[in-house]
Amino acid sequence: MNKQPATPPRPLLQRPAWKALQAHQQKVRDVHLRQLFADDPLRGKRLAAEACGLYLDYSKNRITNETLELLLKLAKECGLREHAEAMFTGQKINVTEQRAVLHTALRAPHEERIVLDGIDIVPQVHAVLDKMAEFTRQIHAGEWLGFTGMPIRNVVNIGIGGSDLGPVMAYEALRHYSHRSLTFRFVSNIDGTDFAEATRDLKPEETLFVVCSKTFKTLETLANAQAAREWLLRKFPDDRAIARHFVAVSTNVAGVAGFGIDARHMFELWDWAGGRYSMDSAIGLTTMLAIGAENFRAMLAGMHAMDQHFRSAPFERNLPVLMGLLAIWYNNFFDAQTVAVLPYEQYLKRFPAYLQQLTMESNGKCVTLDGARVDYQTGPIYWGEPGTNGQHSFYQLIHQGTRLIPCDFIGFCQPLNPLARHHDLLMANLFAQTEALAFGKTRAQVKAEGTPDWLAPHRMFEGNHPTNTVLAERLTPETLGSLVALYEHSVFTQGVIWQIDSFDQWGVELGKALAERTIPELESSQEPALGHDSSTNTLIQRYRQSRRRQQTGESS
Ligand code: F6P
Repeated sequence: MNKQPATPPRPLLQRPAWKALQAHQQKVRDVHLRQLFADDPLRGKRLAAEACGLYLDYSKNRITNETLELLLKLAKECGLREHAEAMFTGQKINVTEQRAVLHTALRAPHEERIVLDGIDIVPQVHAVLDKMAEFTRQIHAGEWLGFTGMPIRNVVNIGIGGSDLGPVMAYEALRHYSHRSLTFRFVSNIDGTDFAEATRDLKPEETLFVVCSKTFKTLETLANAQAAREWLLRKFPDDRAIARHFVAVSTNVAGVAGFGIDARHMFELWDWAGGRYSMDSAIGLTTMLAIGAENFRAMLAGMHAMDQHFRSAPFERNLPVLMGLLAIWYNNFFDAQTVAVLPYEQYLKRFPAYLQQLTMESNGKCVTLDGARVDYQTGPIYWGEPGTNGQHSFYQLIHQGTRLIPCDFIGFCQPLNPLARHHDLLMANLFAQTEALAFGKTRAQVKAEGTPDWLAPHRMFEGNHPTNTVLAERLTPETLGSLVALYEHSVFTQGVIWQIDSFDQWGVELGKALAERTIPELESSQEPALGHDSSTNTLIQRYRQSRRRQQTGESS
């Protein structure tokens, strides 16, 4: 692999804007949002930006005009615009894997040209999309028949990480638009329960497995695909059944063929589309089967619109840039360790889980692009649950705990399932929470309610908890696409500032290698010599004893 890069950039902590932000933070760290809003009655309108159907209110952040100026200056000093161009134009910005990062090409319209290694990749992308659309049409029309001539009624997606989280999130998010006559299931975990529960009520003759694996080498996915094969062949002991009940999405033609899936039933993707950035590629086949090609293309259009916005809008009106810089502000200047993502939309229930991979696999890095140990914090922990469930669970800690937890609230003006007053109640809660978090409740207010002195500290809310609110008209395929791309580019923005490779994931390798070594130690019929530490050795021995008891029918 070629050694990267020529001249390392100036260390982050030595950048003028960074130093200025440090000094500035000392001045503003105790300024309360109550004060900021009182000083500027138009703040709530002023600190907002809108693009691609998303309205971002970032006024309830602990920032002044100067904070914003300095953050934007930091982005410029770090060459954010140039780095973004390098990504969009297919330079090998994933330096540790020497790969281009072109998920944006997956949603480029026909007429765009994106040349990689001398080849325009846009036609390839559209050829695969067309193949997916035709396959989807056949399934929906009942033309694609199972081995016994029955139409497909169930689709089981087998994949993990980016080959599961994106598809399942998008399926759940867009379920309102889905073909209700089909049943969709997602199997990811190597825990046999996942497969068993997903298939227990399905008939093999009506079930299609979509095996999604960019590498077609992932232990969990291959084991689950093998289980699916055996499940099918138990009912129809004829290898020809595989061709009617399995399709694959992968870069690995040989691996797919080796598994026995007909190459004609393989949907291609490319090494320039990272796993966690691939829900808009053929990895989204299950999503397309659920919502149809037209809706899938609308989702791509929403993503593309956000790509263009990110690429060309001035930073001060650029949603992903603003969100990325605000994340830096709290992570690096207030030592915030986490970000809560709180969608007030039940259909987005898997969005926080999806974002966890996107954000943490991307920016959970401790060395810079040139291999030096960072001397600042990188990716924060992302977590969350849909509102209002979270309110009755962990919001207590956000309101009155000792940690600073910036929150992203996401809501929609129009419900997809109008029901009595539900939507007004839901949205009233969203607005109320951001208000309560920002402004809190003072001792004087608590006392004025007749609260005794001893109880007042418990009933006070300090407030000054920062939030972003992303508000859209309605959850549609386009809006979902824009929302996903918003976070993708916010993650990119943060990675550029931190000078890390947001597109590799070497941190997952060690655990995988150790698991490979441990598997035979668990399964061997001979007593293996264990060369781990004393903790791991003891755990393995205990497991082996239990396994032996289970095999011999001995009770414990
Ligand atoms: O182990 C992490 C990872 O490599 C992710 O980055 C990826 O999304 C996932 O595994 C699945 O990989 P694949 O699609 O190759 O099976």
